[in-house]
Amino acid sequence: MKYGHILLAAGLLLAGCCAHNGQKDIEKQVKDALAQMTLNEKIALIHAQSKFTSPGVPRLGIPELKCDDGPHGLRPETLWDKWAAAGQTNDSCTAYPSLTCLAATWNKDIAYLYGRSVGEEARYRGKNVLLGPGVNICRTPLCGRNFEYMGEDPFLAGKLSAQYVKGVQSNKVAACVKHFAVNNQESHRTDGNSVVDDRTLYEIYLPAFKTAVQEGGAWSIMSSYNRYEEVFVSHSSHLLNDILKGEWGFDGAVISDWGATHDTEGAAHGGLDLEFGTHTDGLSQGLANAYDAYYMAEPYKAKILAGELSEDELNEKVRRALRLNFRTQADGYFGSFLSPEHFADCRRIGGEGIVLLRNEGVLPLKKDAKKIVVLGENAIRPMIVGGQSSSLKAQHEISPLQGIRNAFPEAEVVYERAYYSDQPTPGNYNYGQYDITEERPAAKLLADALAAVEGADYVIFVGGLNKNDNQDCEGRDRLSYELPYGQNEVIEAIAAVRPDLVYVNVSGSPVAMPFADKVAAILQAWYLGSETGNALADVLTGAVNPSGKLPVTFPVALEDGPIKTERQFPGFADEKGMWQTYYDEGIYVGYRWYDTKGVKPQFPFGYGLSYTSFEYGQAKLSSKKMGKSITVKVSIKNTGDVAGAEVAQLYISDLESSVDRPLKELKGFEKVYLQPGESKTVEFTFGRDALSFFDAEKHAWVAEPGKFKVLVGASSEDIRTEAEFTL
Ligand code: GLC
Repeated sequence: MKYGHILLAAGLLLAGCCAHNGQKDIEKQVKDALAQMTLNEKIALIHAQSKFTSPGVPRLGIPELKCDDGPHGLRPETLWDKWAAAGQTNDSCTAYPSLTCLAATWNKDIAYLYGRSVGEEARYRGKNVLLGPGVNICRTPLCGRNFEYMGEDPFLAGKLSAQYVKGVQSNKVAACVKHFAVNNQESHRTDGNSVVDDRTLYEIYLPAFKTAVQEGGAWSIMSSYNRYEEVFVSHSSHLLNDILKGEWGFDGAVISDWGATHDTEGAAHGGLDLEFGTHTDGLSQGLANAYDAYYMAEPYKAKILAGELSEDELNEKVRRALRLNFRTQADGYFGSFLSPEHFADCRRIGGEGIVLLRNEGVLPLKKDAKKIVVLGENAIRPMIVGGQSSSLKAQHEISPLQGIRNAFPEAEVVYERAYYSDQPTPGNYNYGQYDITEERPAAKLLADALAAVEGADYVIFVGGLNKNDNQDCEGRDRLSYELPYGQNEVIEAIAAVRPDLVYVNVSGSPVAMPFADKVAAILQAWYLGSETGNALADVLTGAVNPSGKLPVTFPVALEDGPIKTERQFPGFADEKGMWQTYYDEGIYVGYRWYDTKGVKPQFPFGYGLSYTSFEYGQAKLSSKKMGKSITVKVSIKNTGDVAGAEVAQLYISDLESSVDRPLKELKGFEKVYLQPGESKTVEFTFGRDALSFFDAEKHAWVAEPGKFKVLVGASSEDIRTEAEFTL
């Protein structure tokens, strides 16, 4: 090693071990390292060397970069070049609730806790980058990956993902916010072109990413598979250079989705920094080392040597890759894995994310129950496996049935399947520890269930979706809004004899509930991870008073929503054979549609009941005229006899806009915990940006003078107090 290298290596070591990531030290490390690197080392640094790693610069003592999924826990180790699990015995993780469940907590502190906790597991497993959170907006309930995302509103998704990012990165592990951008369906995800007007892009599909970058400080972003403006997003200079790095000042690295890179010039000019997963399996091209065949590998080097592409452009990628590497050096901190604290975190997040949608006096369950009948396949089905890349091998998964048994050790808890799904969990992700095969035909399953409910104190049906193909599963959108496997008929048959039936819906997406008025209670339980059954039982028994609120509207029927044509979803092949998906509904996504068009949903955005009740005082404004900002104060009182938490939501309505705008838009939320009889005042402070719409002509945010209204309430539909002000 030359003298200079020894000096630099020592410098890096010194800087690394005592700098603790002070930004200025990192910039110095980046500058020094770049100055020392050869062209070969620069090219090597910016693309994968295996399924989930890219090389550092061994000669300079810079370690390799290790990525891993995300976002609900640490994916089990895969083979070096293959998606297949390596079959290790030391990588069973803590499985956290799905991100839709996190969104349903509406709790910024919980979001930070989640990120910090899962980040500790990533650090312990030696990862530099955790591939999550996903913040793609729920544009249709049929999107296969809604369960990995944070609902239909960019303000909620942004504020919570920013905290998740901060939590992960507190472990010196980079979050990788995905999938940037306008990747809102799985159909044709790797080739489809999303056609979105600028105003919709800036008001709906970008803000969650922008908040995660500017408030969360995300160190990496994943460029999505799809096209935008008919350019693959991994090559989209408009999205990656102009907006992400230019307008937003993102100084981290853009990592391609796995196999989302298609062209050397496109990647070079388009703002991509790290190429992963090309040709899917590293060796699927059959070359001695297919990684050299990556678009930003030998082909890139050849074009630089030929003077066709500039080394300056390459150097900017190298800077960002080095910065990501240096920001995520452990400095002797080891994180933690499978700790009791992590399982407690799961249980707490789940308990806060479960949403009570209906309760005709049957919940909470009385602890002295003698006989409880639990029905439904989802009461025993493992849910942590499946769903593709977010699938996990958990150290344990407490099923709903087990959780209820844990909570009622003295009671007779009887289980009946009641219905049976038709597919095993996709092979790649079933680690063999589960076998829930069933021989009885559907009629027998129902007959046995009906016989079992006789004389029970309580009957609880756990149904919903699972993570099989065409349910909540990456790569495949749902084919129907209805519950699968004939559940509606089974639930109605049971409710006919047991109108006090408690229905627990396990899903990451809204589903149709035609039986909603025929059952006594409904819980939206999402996917709750390792502590599923315990978190569910905590809410069923009232050990935890439910405080979750829907991050996504549950329409009565899919047709009630803003997606009316094939062209909108899933799209169509145009005359040149390119798949086009037109976001014709524009900004009218989720409650922005239902609320503004006056279409009553089954359960509205922001809705969730409690075992207690809350009273809102009159909204008090710091001023009736908007100067720099306005502060709204509202007192919230717990008028019931049990402690509970309420999420007060602030919406803003533009009463005199020159353009079409949604009836109201979420611009603040605060979760407040109250003892019986206790009151607290929640405060919201907002500025002009909360009043603005995006003017595509001016390419600017515009707040028009005139009258506005703040609306504060318990859901987008349940407004408790309003007040007008002017700009
Ligand atoms: C997948 C997913 C992405 C995941 C990556 C690595 O195709 O789109 O979310 O992080 O590849 O598994």
